[in-house]
Amino acid sequence: MIELKLNRYAKKVDNFLLNFLKRQSKSLLVSPMKYGAISGGKKIRSTIIFDTGKIFGLREKKLLNICAAVECIHSYSLIHDDLPCMDDDDIRRGKPSAHIKFGEATAVLAGNSLLTLAFEIISDKKNLLTLKQKNEIIALLSNCAGHTGIAGGQELDLKFENKKKSFNQIIDMQRKKTGKLFNFCLQSAAIVANKNIKVKLAYGEIGEDIGLLFQLSDDFLDVKGLKKLVGKPIKKDRKKGKSTLISLMGYEKTLRYANNLKKKILLKLKKHGKVAKDLTETIEFIQRRNF
Ligand code: IPE
Ligand code: IPE
Ligand code: MG
Ligand code: MG
Ligand code: MG
Repeated sequence: MIELKLNRYAKKVDNFLLNFLKRQSKSLLVSPMKYGAISGGKKIRSTIIFDTGKIFGLREKKLLNICAAVECIHSYSLIHDDLPCMDDDDIRRGKPSAHIKFGEATAVLAGNSLLTLAFEIISDKKNLLTLKQKNEIIALLSNCAGHTGIAGGQELDLKFENKKKSFNQIIDMQRKKTGKLFNFCLQSAAIVANKNIKVKLAYGEIGEDIGLLFQLSDDFLDVKGLKKLVGKPIKKDRKKGKSTLISLMGYEKTLRYANNLKKKILLKLKKHGKVAKDLTETIEFIQRRNF
């Protein structure tokens, strides 16, 4: 059952983060940081890292720091995404958004701190990777989180509100705001497995396609999901004038596009056979999920 797998990995990553924060000196931001990153969320990105690790035969403990770092960056992006200056959403993961609970300034600072915590977690002495691997992972993570990744994509998402944008512009925005972090998930596992550059980039590309599929299913859930299950406001994209594939070409056509995208991803993974079973299962979940 995919839910059991997600829960097991979520607990593992949550415990790692709790212990990591415990080792650091206390600050006022620890509580809002925990609120944003621990005990909530599907931890789908961590699951995908562990799934990819299985393809390469990697031990979970070699990947745990990477998972925790990714969840910190993802959680930071959600805290900021919900702010009044961005999507202005009051509910996240079935609870008040961070800025509702702690105030805007604290939410901004807790988000910033989660972003930098990610890099502390990768560079940590206790992280089992070699210095060369850590360095490569830090460079890639910076690229996927900053102006060429999440932040750049979020800027486009906001600038595209109430504008008529082309298919390619929307895909480019979604690849940046969501796809890039999934690119990181698969590529970082390939780095840990010491794969050559061609293989690393190929996995990155598959990851980015999975991320795009994930964003499309998020957009479907905004239209047809149940608020109680998704744990955040629904039917907001249209209200906010968001440029999505659904707004451009309708639900059905977007669904067909997503189906083909999924098929393309699964075809690429097929040659790996049984070792890719877990990743395949997670991709199937991404498309049919209702939370
Ligand atoms: C929501 O991400 C934002 C997107 C990038 C679509 P998730 O659906 O992974 O959020 P949580 O972590 O499970 O709450
Ligand atoms: C957010 O996309 C993507 C991020 C990188 C944060 P959305 O704005 O659609 O995510 P939700 O629906 O608020 O979770
Ligand atoms: Mg948004
Ligand atoms: Mg949002
Ligand atoms: Mg959304």
